[in-house]
Amino acid sequence: MRIVWRFLPDLQAILAGAAAGFYLQRWFLPRYRTLLYPILAFIAIGALLNVRLLLGAVPAQWEIGVRGLAFALAAAFVAAFPVGWLVRRRLTQIPETDLVRRKMLHAAVAAPIATMGFGLIAARFTPLLIERELRIPGLPQDLHGLKLAQISDIHLSPFLSRRELARAVDMVNETRPDLTFVTGDLITGSRDPLDDCITELARLKAASGVWGCHGNHEMYIKAEPYASEMAARHGIQFLRDERASLRFGQAKLHLTGVDFQSKYKPMLRNVGELVVPNEFNLLLSHTPEVFRTAQKQGWDLVLSGHTHGGQLNLELFGEQLNIIRFFTPYTYGLFEENRSRLWVTRGLGTVGIPARIGAPPEVVLLKLLRA
Ligand SMILES: [Fe+2]
Repeated sequence: MRIVWRFLPDLQAILAGAAAGFYLQRWFLPRYRTLLYPILAFIAIGALLNVRLLLGAVPAQWEIGVRGLAFALAAAFVAAFPVGWLVRRRLTQIPETDLVRRKMLHAAVAAPIATMGFGLIAARFTPLLIERELRIPGLPQDLHGLKLAQISDIHLSPFLSRRELARAVDMVNETRPDLTFVTGDLITGSRDPLDDCITELARLKAASGVWGCHGNHEMYIKAEPYASEMAARHGIQFLRDERASLRFGQAKLHLTGVDFQSKYKPMLRNVGELVVPNEFNLLLSHTPEVFRTAQKQGWDLVLSGHTHGGQLNLELFGEQLNIIRFFTPYTYGLFEENRSRLWVTRGLGTVGIPARIGAPPEVVLLKLLRA
């Protein structure tokens, strides 16, 4: 059997989760072994689905669904394990008669599992509409007040239905934007409904057009050419190292898009010369890591996604705590460097664990203002 190496971290996490679940049951619910076995079996099936030989035998929606839920369960058990270990030590010091304190400690073990359950549901909430005013130095007068809508990281899959996407599309249309941008990750894997995603996005309406760039998930399955062609037939222009120049009154807005940019390769290699000096240049890049290079090249505004706002995110004393922080300084929101601005959206969907904690799904409306 050939293991898909890309899924090896998932496999390790799932196995760690199964082990954590096993010990938690032994420590806290010793009488409920019959409850544990089906849960562990479910996690094991999720782990087995990482083995390529089995992938073809399972319908796509089941494969992604089971793997995602198994991963979520495993993650909840891993999070609960250190709490359980501490609680177990503490319980030995509390008398058997002190039922209140004992129950509170038991509840502490359940808290990470309950939080994950909430995150699973929260990922399916109606997206938030995030509205921001962006003050741009030297913005041409005729671009003042321009409304830009953004929808990103859709990941249409068993964990984000077409109906949920339709709701997000309606929300974007209701803002009556001048321009709408789709900034990548339409789907997660090759068996996800890419055609459905594009058909639904085709309902997006904006006075000066709907434009897009691709994400890493289109790249993984080499879907960029097909998705671009399909989208173009539906009136959405995906820009691939290309520029479109749009006129608004006396001003021009130069719009460029790039495919996924790996941080292990030189970034924005083919688009530096597309920046038009002394005019407004907007770059669509799925990954926000391009920002340092982008501001050196002279882009006024970069619109990105990719991070999902951390997806599992804890806010503590004003600090955002999530794993994505270790990979990029641009997890969510607005960033400024010299005259350049970067906006990073949390997007709509999920990847890996099908849950969102502290990072609700969103669509965005940005209003450009002259600084
Ligand atoms: Fe994504």
